[in-house]
Amino acid sequence: MSITILGIESSCDDTSAAVIRDGVILSNVVAGQDVHITYGGVVPELASRAHQQSVVPVVDAAIKAAGIDCSELSAVAFTRGPGLLGSLLVGSSFAKGLARALDIPIIDVNHLQAHVLALFIQQPDKKTDTPRFPFLCLLVSGGNSQIILVKSELDMEVIGQTIDDAAGEAFDKCAKIMGLPYPGGPLIDKYALDGDATKFEFAKPRMEGYNYSFSGLKTSFLYFLRDRLIENPDFIQQNLADLCASLQKTIIDILLNKLKKAAKDLNINQIAIAGGVSANSGLRNVLTQMAVKQRWEVFIPPVAYTTDNAAMVAITGYYRFIAGQFATYDMTPFSRTVI
Ligand code: KG4
Repeated sequence: MSITILGIESSCDDTSAAVIRDGVILSNVVAGQDVHITYGGVVPELASRAHQQSVVPVVDAAIKAAGIDCSELSAVAFTRGPGLLGSLLVGSSFAKGLARALDIPIIDVNHLQAHVLALFIQQPDKKTDTPRFPFLCLLVSGGNSQIILVKSELDMEVIGQTIDDAAGEAFDKCAKIMGLPYPGGPLIDKYALDGDATKFEFAKPRMEGYNYSFSGLKTSFLYFLRDRLIENPDFIQQNLADLCASLQKTIIDILLNKLKKAAKDLNINQIAIAGGVSANSGLRNVLTQMAVKQRWEVFIPPVAYTTDNAAMVAITGYYRFIAGQFATYDMTPFSRTVI
């Protein structure tokens, strides 16, 4: 009998629903929230209200796009955390209500684990290559930067992580300093394409082991620009592409140096990236070049599965369903955790 999972994601500012059958994606619907643009960042209270408005139409659209009836669902998987509590409450409450009405199980999903398992989503028409266990996954998003040792689908160990800002935050905060709208990561990526990455140099942190730190980069970037702007108020406009390219290169270097060290120490050549920042074209290019030199086999999920999406929640739900890992109705969301 086939296993059909509805996934619901509402951890931050995207409402998403997806249907996966036996590991194969049938639909993935994502509704973003424009309401935050004027504030330069996500406003939690506005995010949860927007989720409330979107969750019913988004789930309905995902079911219809999958061409199934709700009665065919085996379980409803939802993001339990980490994320914004109010936003998570909307998705988890809706999942519980729907599952109870359909008399099927609910499955709680860790958002970070889901980012990693996005690598295993299969397309209906062709087989996706997946990494062999154990592999290393660099998980880089707006809220996290971690190196994860993935031993099996449901057995993961965080071996390094940021002690302050995440890589995505570094992109977004530096973009904000340059006057770019939120989220700045994709814009830095875009402007960097026309820039000279060797034009400016920014300080890199010295961190123990496989841990990261990005808050110092943001501060040194701020002081660097302040000094230049005193001399030339048009400095940012005149150097935007070079600033973006140099900053992006610095972040990529920081991320990949630790990944390289971990791969060498643990003697692992199966390497993956996941999370919103893995959509960065510079990171993808440098990683692909590094793979040749280091003899790595590299796995990069399609861009649609790197930012917040319910397909990754549904695939995690699928593996948890097989393992018999179900949630109970008294389970509440959590805002912070490690895997
Ligand atoms: O995974 P995600 O959608 O949300 C979290 O779970 O955090 O990641 C969002 C982050 C934001 O910081 C955004 O600026 C960054 O991913 N991002 C990028 C790119 N696309 C998204 N950063 C750099 N380059 C990109 N192309």
